[in-house]
Amino acid sequence: MNLILMGLPGAGKGTQAERIVEKYEIPHISTGDMFRAAIKGETELGLKAKSFMDAGELVPDEVTIGIVRDRLAKDDCKKGFLLDGFPRTVAQAEALEELLASLDRKLDYVLNVDVPEQLLMDRLTGRRVSPTSGRTYHVIFNPPKVEGKCDVDGSDLIQRDDDKPETVKKRLEVNQKQAKPLFDFYSEKGYLRNIKGDQDIDKVFDDIDQLLKGLRA
Ligand code: AP5
Ligand code: MG
Repeated sequence: MNLILMGLPGAGKGTQAERIVEKYEIPHISTGDMFRAAIKGETELGLKAKSFMDAGELVPDEVTIGIVRDRLAKDDCKKGFLLDGFPRTVAQAEALEELLASLDRKLDYVLNVDVPEQLLMDRLTGRRVSPTSGRTYHVIFNPPKVEGKCDVDGSDLIQRDDDKPETVKKRLEVNQKQAKPLFDFYSEKGYLRNIKGDQDIDKVFDDIDQLLKGLRA
């Protein structure tokens, strides 16, 4: 199963990805998570990505395409993959097409999680994450069992650096600009499936699950 999860910041890509990879047992490849891990590890990649992420800008295409190329070449991707937040530009989408062709692979679906823009600011500023388990919460929409603590490992939940209101505004602007050409790119190829993202988290997953079950049948 070869999938892409697409959607504006805060649409719920990471939240749905957690559920999809658990049920369908494919690796979750989030470029945002990979950049955050590199920043934490103070690697060369982290140094390159940090200034762009802090400013709410996109990391340059050649850097981003390079890390996805390396990741997709790993053995665990032979059974499939779920790309989260990549591609985000048409140049990235074209590079992915070439890459998949060279690996003799084909996409199944591009799932576009569609959420009205006015909901996204609240989703992002209320988000909390566990730095150790990676689990995502929301102070109102998806709270942990114990306030401020991760359900999985009890770690203290933190706010992502780029979830401050000024950076969120910039991220939404930057991503909105790329969204339409990317949507058209995959729509023309017939891969695109729209997912109604302004419903309960479980209901959004049910809709995705119905679609994916069809691939298994
Ligand atoms: P990335 O980490 O991918 O951030 P993003 O695209 O801005 O998306 P988010 O992770 O913020 O949102 P999400 O859709 O995953 O929402 P979530 O499930 O957490 O990228 C970060 C940065 O890295 C970029 O800004 C860029 O600099 C760089 N980067 C990454 N990829 C790149 C690329 N391809 N090219 C160039 N640069 C790249 O949910 C959000 C909140 O809402 C949570 O609190 C959640 O609990 C809640 N929520 C989720 N679903 C629902 C629901 N149905 N109802 C109510 N609340 C919900
Ligand atoms: Mg995410």
